[in-house]
Amino acid sequence: MSKKILVTGGLGFIGSHTVVELQNEGFEVVIVDNCSNSTEEVLDGIVAITGQSPYFERFDLRDKSKVQEFFAKYDDVGGVIHFAASKAVGESVENPLLYYENNLGVLVYILQELTKKGSASFIFSSSCTVYGQADRMPITEDAPVKPAESPYGNTKQVGEEIIKDVCKVNPQLSAIALRYFNPIGAHPSNEIGELPTGVPQNLVPFITQTGVGMREQLSVFGDDYPTADGTCIRDYIHVVDVAKAHVAALQRLVEGENKENFEVFNLGTGTGSSVLEVIQSFERVSGEKLNYRVAPRRAGDVIQAYADTRKANEVLGWEAKSTLDDAVRSAWNWEKKIRDYEKTSV
Ligand SMILES: NC(=O)c1ccc[n+]([C@@H]2O[C@H](COP(=O)([O-])OP(=O)(O)OC[C@H]3O[C@@H](n4cnc5c(N)ncnc54)[C@H](O)[C@@H]3O)[C@@H](O)[C@H]2O)c1
Repeated sequence: MSKKILVTGGLGFIGSHTVVELQNEGFEVVIVDNCSNSTEEVLDGIVAITGQSPYFERFDLRDKSKVQEFFAKYDDVGGVIHFAASKAVGESVENPLLYYENNLGVLVYILQELTKKGSASFIFSSSCTVYGQADRMPITEDAPVKPAESPYGNTKQVGEEIIKDVCKVNPQLSAIALRYFNPIGAHPSNEIGELPTGVPQNLVPFITQTGVGMREQLSVFGDDYPTADGTCIRDYIHVVDVAKAHVAALQRLVEGENKENFEVFNLGTGTGSSVLEVIQSFERVSGEKLNYRVAPRRAGDVIQAYADTRKANEVLGWEAKSTLDDAVRSAWNWEKKIRDYEKTSV
């Protein structure tokens, strides 16, 4: 199979780190991104790290005719890693149709093109949100999928169902859904990282923005949960580890090692960390005290979610290597860099 891979959303947070790892492993990458949540400067970071420039096509994947034109132009694309999506949970409640169109409509357009090919590989960005509050920790892939709390969460569940149905009748298509736990951090080179727009929805960008003084104070939502320190527990995984798992999954498909043509893997570290433990990690690696207060619980937060990673470890031959401190340190270094850059470019 051709080693030319389409990475949708390849200028985004996880996509850009994955492009780096793909290029490091000898894949030829074509990025499609409309920069709705990223900038073209991310390409410079990718080139600075890898010394190679991926192909780049800027357009909106919601335009079906453009998707068709793309596949006609790049008819040697043998696989797709599909990151492009809208990901703000709150916004998805306000504007569900945007989420169904961008996260599911686009998925359908891409699968329509892939099913025309003699063979193709497809990797989908799913999420641990599909498990809701799982009954058992750590969470295995066969834990039941719980009713989604938001249209965003629903797009991940329905997205997996769409891929499964399409794979059933298209044996030449092989797909893997990767259920991410909580990706954080930045590339160790400090050339690429997360660029949240507006108020960050996730804990670590909020911590680092508070650390640099962009935000006054972090609110810890609830300290009366049934956990050791009363705060919620998540499985924070370095984005470079997440990126490497995509390469391992793609290689499995390209080399035809997959047992079924639709498979699912958890991507986590296997270790849960509480909100207070993440704050302590930040204080350790930055040497700064973080201004935070305990606030009431927030609707929709599950108490704890961390991955059983054995399937990915054994089947993909992959495991997360970085510690929480490594990941938080890289996020902090990146935050300081982008804020310095903003100050000097004013
Ligand atoms: N970051 C997380 O914590 C997390 C957790 C679980 C799952 N995911 C999923 O992983 C994927 C990547 O997440 P991320 O954090 O890198 O997000 P991101 O917003 O940083 O990256 C997504 C990229 O897709 C692009 N994009 C969006 N819609 C597009 C469209 N219609 N046409 C072309 N480009 C488009 C954006 O400009 C952006 O560059 C998403 O599918 C997300 O739902 C992320």
